[in-house]
Amino acid sequence: MEFSFGAFPEENGMAGIRMPRRAGLEGPPPARVPKETRMTHPLSQEHRALIERLLGEMTLGEKIGQMTQAEKNSVRRGDVARLGLGSVLSGGGGSPKPNTPEAWRAMVGEFIRESLASPVGIPLLYGVDAVHGHNNVLGATIFPHNIGLGATRDPALVRRIGRATALEVAATNVRWDFAPAVSIPQDLRWGRTYEGYSQDPALVTELATAYVEGLRGDRWDSPTSVLPSVKHYVADGATAFGTSKRVNELGMMFDQTLALARTGESLTKLRRLGAWQIDQGDSPIDEATLRAIHLPPYGAAIEAGALNVMASYSSWRGLRMHAHRYLLSGVLKGELGFQGFVVSDWEAIDQIHPGDYPRCVADAVNAGVDMVMVPFDPERFIRTLRAEVEAGRVSGARIDDAVRRILTAKAALGLFERPYTDEALLSLVGCPEHRALAREAVRKSLVLLKNEGNVLPLSPDLPALLVAGEAADDLGAQCGGWTITWMGGHGAVTPGTTILEGLRRQFGHPARVHFVPDGDTNSRYPVGLAVLAEEPYAEGMGDRRELRLTPKHLALLARVRRQCDRLVVVLLSGRPLVVTEQVPGWDAFVAAWLPGTEGDGVAEVLCGAAPFTGRLGFAWPLSQADLARTPTSRTLWQIGAGLTPASREPTPLSPTP
Ligand code: GLC
Repeated sequence: MEFSFGAFPEENGMAGIRMPRRAGLEGPPPARVPKETRMTHPLSQEHRALIERLLGEMTLGEKIGQMTQAEKNSVRRGDVARLGLGSVLSGGGGSPKPNTPEAWRAMVGEFIRESLASPVGIPLLYGVDAVHGHNNVLGATIFPHNIGLGATRDPALVRRIGRATALEVAATNVRWDFAPAVSIPQDLRWGRTYEGYSQDPALVTELATAYVEGLRGDRWDSPTSVLPSVKHYVADGATAFGTSKRVNELGMMFDQTLALARTGESLTKLRRLGAWQIDQGDSPIDEATLRAIHLPPYGAAIEAGALNVMASYSSWRGLRMHAHRYLLSGVLKGELGFQGFVVSDWEAIDQIHPGDYPRCVADAVNAGVDMVMVPFDPERFIRTLRAEVEAGRVSGARIDDAVRRILTAKAALGLFERPYTDEALLSLVGCPEHRALAREAVRKSLVLLKNEGNVLPLSPDLPALLVAGEAADDLGAQCGGWTITWMGGHGAVTPGTTILEGLRRQFGHPARVHFVPDGDTNSRYPVGLAVLAEEPYAEGMGDRRELRLTPKHLALLARVRRQCDRLVVVLLSGRPLVVTEQVPGWDAFVAAWLPGTEGDGVAEVLCGAAPFTGRLGFAWPLSQADLARTPTSRTLWQIGAGLTPASREPTPLSPTP
């Protein structure tokens, strides 16, 4: 599809590079940049000259503005121009009202327009968490979360998902995606396990690189390329249970961020279950382990041209990553030759020295953080960093290096020539082609772990099928966290197809698919299908002391078991749960992870329209005790497990009810 430029007159692409706006400064180019400070990144000489020219003209305030990223709800009309903000983001669920692709495009377009109207006129870069599709946007295609993509072991598929996601993100004028997470979760009790592709570093490296290439497309400065943020640097998945200081009892009451999390349970109850015990904690591993397990995906992503890395909230051996000069500047920028910029995580620098904000700011910037995510008070950050520079605690050279890195990424994306995207892209948001791609990913992500007597695939000629479990008809449950809102939710959270709807399509005679949400029936069935789901969660809200089925799950299973000859269990979860005691009572068991909006894909494989091909990217723990031994020591199934039954005819089943 050929794209023309958008509707706004200023959106029609400028020929050549837009020169800075400040009048009377078009003077002679600055003296040649000394060789040792010139970027070695493959930018054109013209872009490098522009960056040096801008650095030579910008005031300290304008430079610090470029280093500041505010959340859109903290930015009033005019602030972007007044503060010279380099970036604005939408936190999880940070949507405009109404939440439509068009409204997103207009909102982001307005921020960009303001940035161009600022004295220095550097285009703003807007960032979102599009971690499984453009997941904040109503109507966007929601792909399986990374744990499901890991089970596909299909880099070409992941690259296509990256490309489709980039098109839907770019449609809304957004050119920065805080993904891929290259976490390698060691303790599955971590609420971010599902954001990781796998516990196998080589598989994570392969899939993350594919996703980066997908977001890029043919070239970084193509009109639909999107800047990846490889995160969270480094070893975010290696923190030990009980080491997180993120939430204390008092802080829970007054924490602005946690207040944004609309969860079904109270924060106090979630804390009792284990919330915020691992996430943002401390990793005790030695450097050899850090380098062997957690670093490789970053090197590969940098090789693929990634120009942004997000620092991790977590600490390594007691030192916060956001203040870790050795790992940020020595290893990432020095050893790995990273030429892009490091962005902090959400309010993360505040955790370095709680209560001493100036030291937080100085230590983070001096360690190598180039842009700071300041969700609630950008002016405080700007004021503080200026004071730290004027006091000599942060050098002008460090500021210039940070801004040079940020402008390098903006130039590489072609923002100076084309600050807006093409409006015609809007037709791609949630389009049939992307949903078909998502359905393919769902099919390939399912892992068949038990299939006694080949009860699967279900024969569409089955006289009756009992489907139990509210999750069978709950789009929110199949999407999980980071969907429309930060924590995700239940019900029709966004357009899509539930597993139940998919089964009814597969069976062709919906009447033969009997949906009994609580499984309480007196009828007898040849096959009962129970769909179980974890409550949606994100980040530390999903940390748990134990990973097990709930009493409600167990009661449902008991009811269904009594009424059917064969019991098939489908689990929608962000991680393996300990099911060792229950599996013997099941005839078949499918790990479906968090498949997203295309529940059809689950039904197609359950009914034999496509084979099971998925294989575990994570070890499946045998007991609760094995969870504490990371990586999981005794397992029910190893990484790589997964039955891929030959295409046998379904076993004839007992007579109809
Ligand atoms: C969150 C997450 C990070 C996300 C950022 C912006 O706290 O840690 O993954 O990209 O804030 O939403």
